[in-house]
Amino acid sequence: MLYDNPGLKFKDKNCSGEIVWQSPSNIALVKYWGKKGFQIPSNPSISFSLNKSNSETRLKFNPAKGNDFTVNFTFDGTPQPDFEKKIITYFKSLNKIFPFIEQLDFEIESKNTFPHSAGIASSASGMSALALTLCDIERYCFNKLTRLEDFFQKASFIARLGSGSAARSLYGGWVVWGAIEGMEGTSDLYGIPIKNYIHSDFLNYQDTILLVETGTKKVSSRVGHDLMNSNLFAKDRFAQARQNAKRMVEVLKTGDIDEFIRITESEALTLHAMMMTSEPSFLLIKPETVSIIEEIRAYREKTKTPVCFTLDAGPNVHLLYPKSVKAQVKEFINDTLIQYVSKNGFIDDEIGPGPRKMM
Ligand code: DP6
Repeated sequence: MLYDNPGLKFKDKNCSGEIVWQSPSNIALVKYWGKKGFQIPSNPSISFSLNKSNSETRLKFNPAKGNDFTVNFTFDGTPQPDFEKKIITYFKSLNKIFPFIEQLDFEIESKNTFPHSAGIASSASGMSALALTLCDIERYCFNKLTRLEDFFQKASFIARLGSGSAARSLYGGWVVWGAIEGMEGTSDLYGIPIKNYIHSDFLNYQDTILLVETGTKKVSSRVGHDLMNSNLFAKDRFAQARQNAKRMVEVLKTGDIDEFIRITESEALTLHAMMMTSEPSFLLIKPETVSIIEEIRAYREKTKTPVCFTLDAGPNVHLLYPKSVKAQVKEFINDTLIQYVSKNGFIDDEIGPGPRKMM
């Protein structure tokens, strides 16, 4: 398999160190929902990375005291045995790619820069930060991955194996994950940044996350993805997403904001339609989600302000708009939308520059 490397094993000397990476969450416009095989997406997805919503992961590693590796994991300073088990399983799954893992003991501390109560998915930011620290062990101890492009591509590959959407968090700005017909460089195995082709309106996009309900999700996305295997509409959905991804790349180039809005809202509603038509079905949107969507559409119709929405696997609404209309959208939120949000309010975020090495 790509990246399998028996050479990444300590021979006579061992290595220890401490690495810290901060990595962002991202919001998908064209959605990843459904997999073929292990962590291979059924269709390409497109997102932008956020600026404020980050995970920060500190990884300390030392030569293993026993015959196998150990992991000690804390989140916000508190031990998290469930997460720790998941990380151990994940590390074991990487044994052909990073054979050095079994020679080390790990202490991992993670935290989010957004409030835990916000109910924002943190798997993308968390898994991408962890993948970066692993790739940095390779760089630091084996003097490999010295080209930045190679480093981030491998980190994206490793992140995907932990959580698909995390493959898109390795870059700032707009990112594609999944092969798009006719678009060179795109791959099901890792994300790539869309660099040279973005219209200026899309370079400073805003995402205000309206927090409708912040409890835990009722259905894990892993289960949701699996249910696509038996969803009657899956084949058509994947075909639609492939087409939307292709169009979206074009739209980002031309700056056709009406088409952007059409695709983005259709993708959000289709994602939830897939959930509602799964067997068993599940319904993650709340009455407030629907009210917000209706308000957004009425406001757009009335004022011609280019604001639209997208949804994740939950009831919160991401309000998307170019920076040029920020002042009037702020007014719209405070006058109209605020009545529908929970006591946690909203998070004002925007497109961000991607991961940062902190140590
Ligand atoms: C609705 O990346 O969380 O956010 O690969 O099983 O970890 P796993 O799934 P995950 O799925 C994210 C789904 C989504 C849409 C998206 O981000 O594209």
